[in-house]
Amino acid sequence: MARNYRTRPFPTATRSAGEAYRVTVETTAMAIGGAAVARGADGRVVFVEGALPGETVTVAVDEERPRFVRGAVVEVLGASSARVVPPCPHVAEGCGGCGWQHVAPDEQVRLKVAMVGEALVRLGRQDAPVVRAGEGTGPFGYRTTVRVGVLPGPGGGRAGFRASRSHRLVDAGGCLTAHPRLARALGSSDLGRAERAVLRVGARTGEGVALLGPSARGALVTEGLVTVGEDELGKGPGPAYHEVVAGRRLRISARSFFQASPQGAEALVRAVGRALTGAGQGALVDAYAGVGLFASALGWEGEVVAVESSPSSAADARANLAGAEVVDCRVEHWAPRPAVAVVADPPRSGLGRAGVEVLAATGAPCLVLVSCDAASLGRDAALAQAAGFRLEESVVMDMFPGTPHVEVVSRFTR
Ligand SMILES: C[S@@+](CC[C@H](N)C(=O)[O-])C[C@H]1O[C@@H](n2cnc3c(N)ncnc32)[C@H](O)[C@@H]1O
Repeated sequence: MARNYRTRPFPTATRSAGEAYRVTVETTAMAIGGAAVARGADGRVVFVEGALPGETVTVAVDEERPRFVRGAVVEVLGASSARVVPPCPHVAEGCGGCGWQHVAPDEQVRLKVAMVGEALVRLGRQDAPVVRAGEGTGPFGYRTTVRVGVLPGPGGGRAGFRASRSHRLVDAGGCLTAHPRLARALGSSDLGRAERAVLRVGARTGEGVALLGPSARGALVTEGLVTVGEDELGKGPGPAYHEVVAGRRLRISARSFFQASPQGAEALVRAVGRALTGAGQGALVDAYAGVGLFASALGWEGEVVAVESSPSSAADARANLAGAEVVDCRVEHWAPRPAVAVVADPPRSGLGRAGVEVLAATGAPCLVLVSCDAASLGRDAALAQAAGFRLEESVVMDMFPGTPHVEVVSRFTR
């Protein structure tokens, strides 16, 4: 987008590559995506990454739109009492992996609950939604899957995380949120001439895999991770590792989805189990089932149908779920059958109209929706309400401490 410096609305300080100008603002609230919000001199909204509500900050603006501008904090002139020094040194280098390390842990939870409440009111058309904090994982060493780019160098390719609001990569070695084995692998592996990599470990089995793209040729991944290139896999699922959740051993292939940590997965299973209370006896639909986490770990007594569109995850679900039916198709294309309860855990985009229609057509009186995006939860809540469901409660799980990412378990009944 062309930038018009002559008519820019804010006073300017210095400017560096990638930024249009700097502006000093007072933030008043937290937006649904995790940036603080201020009002610019011309009335436009200013979204500020790296700020908290109630702060005076100087912002490097790098995105201008007719109704809003967006940028990142370069100086804090008046700090919130909830501001803390980010525990990870990579934040100061610009690492974009953890956007809320500057927020005190209790305040992170409070802000996530408020963010979800706002999404349910504004987008979900709920009058007074009941939103509360649920369990969380500890702040460090929890991630058992990391996606990285590759920093080429004379000694080979080093793992790098993308910098905030940039394509630049920041060295990923010693990442505080990664499982200790992954953190070591990130710092000591040579990723050869790969451009991207997904490194995964089973925290409770000691197994692990690394998937490098487009190729793993010349790479040397440490910590015993079984390494494979995308070019070797073709469309196949590739090598698998195992993880143990709630006493169930789950096969997870290199390309299959799995939650960020086994302890987070267990907390989620407990929250979903509580949300299913009173659902009665009969068939359970596990929609967007992945490798079958809920269908396996809930210990549902009765028929279970798992619906999952990824061939790799559906194959794992078949291996993990004795006695359940696994249907590999998109939920929107599934022919619904009668059920007493539905657990739906869609990707960030949410259920959407088609997903809600299919799941409502099961006739299930209880729908437990697991959402990883506050805005899509809001939209899905409005669609579910239109389909006859009433939202009883939303529980915000703090499964990604140090980041604005939410995981929300909502119970709908009708
Ligand atoms: C957030 S993950 C949840 C997986 C699983 N419930 C778990 O907790 O591990 C979403 C899953 O939905 C699958 N998926 C994405 N779009 C889908 C669709 N339209 N229909 C069915 N499955 C879909 C993805 O492959 C992924 O496995």
